Amino acid sequence: MAGRETYLVQFVAGTRPLAEASLLQACPHAQISWADESALTFEVSPALPTAEALPFANNVFRVVSRVRRTDLDASVRRLAEHARSARFPPVRGGFRVMAHIDGALVAMEPGAKSALETVIARRTSSRVVSRGSVQEFWVIGRSGSTDLVLGERLSRSKRSKSKGALSAELCAMLVAASRPHPQDVFCDPFAGSGALPAARLAYPVKRIVCSDRDLDRSPLPRDLFRDARVDIRVDDARRLTLDDGSVDAIVTDPPWGEHEAIEDYDTFAREVATELARLLHPRRGRLVLLSSRRVEQAWQQALASADMVEGQDLGVLINGHPATVIMRRRRRN
Ligand SMILES: C[S@@+](CC[C@H](N)C(=O)[O-])C[C@H]1O[C@@H](n2cnc3c(N)ncnc32)[C@H](O)[C@@H]1O
Repeated sequence: MAGRETYLVQFVAGTRPLAEASLLQACPHAQISWADESALTFEVSPALPTAEALPFANNVFRVVSRVRRTDLDASVRRLAEHARSARFPPVRGGFRVMAHIDGALVAMEPGAKSALETVIARRTSSRVVSRGSVQEFWVIGRSGSTDLVLGERLSRSKRSKSKGALSAELCAMLVAASRPHPQDVFCDPFAGSGALPAARLAYPVKRIVCSDRDLDRSPLPRDLFRDARVDIRVDDARRLTLDDGSVDAIVTDPPWGEHEAIEDYDTFAREVATELARLLHPRRGRLVLLSSRRVEQAWQQALASADMVEGQDLGVLINGHPATVIMRRRRRN
C-alpha cells in the first residue's frame, strides 16, 4: 500500500499489553510485527508526521533502514550501505547519530559511525551537529530481535511531570485502556497532580471530573483549568458528590499505602470500591485502577464485593515497582 511505513516505538518497560492496546486505540490499522517488554515495531499507512499521535510512547522512530544484526560495527557499516538508497526526511539545522543497543546508549567504532554519518549528510544535504536539539538518527538493536535498525526519531513537544505524578506516557496507556468514547463522563477521584485527567484531554470527551482530597500539593496542568469540560473538585473518594451511574469511565491511581498512612487498607479499598461502583453507569461503566502489587488483593476483593467482576488484570512495572492494572466492569445481569 502506498505510503506504508514501519515504526519502532519504545515504551515504559513491563507495560507491553498496555502499549499494544494503546497503539491499536491510536492507530486501529497498525500491524504489529514484533514486540518485547519495552519496544515494538509496526507498520501503518498513512505515515505519522510526529510522535504526538502516540502519547504512550517514550520514543517513536520511523525505520529508515534495517540489516541483520551481527557484530555492531560491521552491522553499522552495512546500515550505511543500505542507507544510500533509503528515504530520509528533510533535515534542517543538522543531525546527530547515536546507538541504543539492548536498552543502553553505546559508543560506535568511529570509522563505522563516520561511514553512516557521511551517507546521512549526503542524503539529507545536512551536517553533523553534536549539541542542541537537532534531528536524531538512532541505530537500535534489541536483544530479542535479529535486526539492527536505523531510525529517524520523530519529534514531540516536551512534557513536564510533577513530583510523585505518573508519567504522561503511562497515563496515556491507562487512559487508552479505558477505551475512550467521545460521550464519556470521565472521573479520576485520586487525581493528585491531574496527570490522568490531562491525558484524557487528548481524546474527545463530554466531561472530566478531576477530584482529590488534597489538590494543593502539586499544581494542576494549566490545560485542565482552561477547559470548560473539566470539573475540578476537592472530595473524599469514599463519599463523592456525584450522582449514581453518572460516570462512564474511571481511571485512577489510589494511594499505594506506602507514603500515606492508611490504617486499615482493606476497609479503605472496600469503601472506595463501593463508591466507584455506585458512580459507574450500569452498562457503559469501565474502571481502570492502578494498584501496587502489595495491595492488589485488597482491591480485587473489594471490587468483587462491589459487584465489579468482569475484566482482567495486567502486571506492569512502574519505575521498577511491581504494580497491577485492574480493569473492571459492573456485573451484567
Ligand atoms: C498515588 S497518588 C495519585 C497520583 C496521581 N495519579 C498523579 O499522577 O499525580 C494518590 C492520591 O490520592 C489522594 N488521596 C488519598 N486519600 C484520598 C481520599 N480518601 N480521597 C481522595 N483522594 C485521596 C492523595 O491526595 C494523592 O493525591
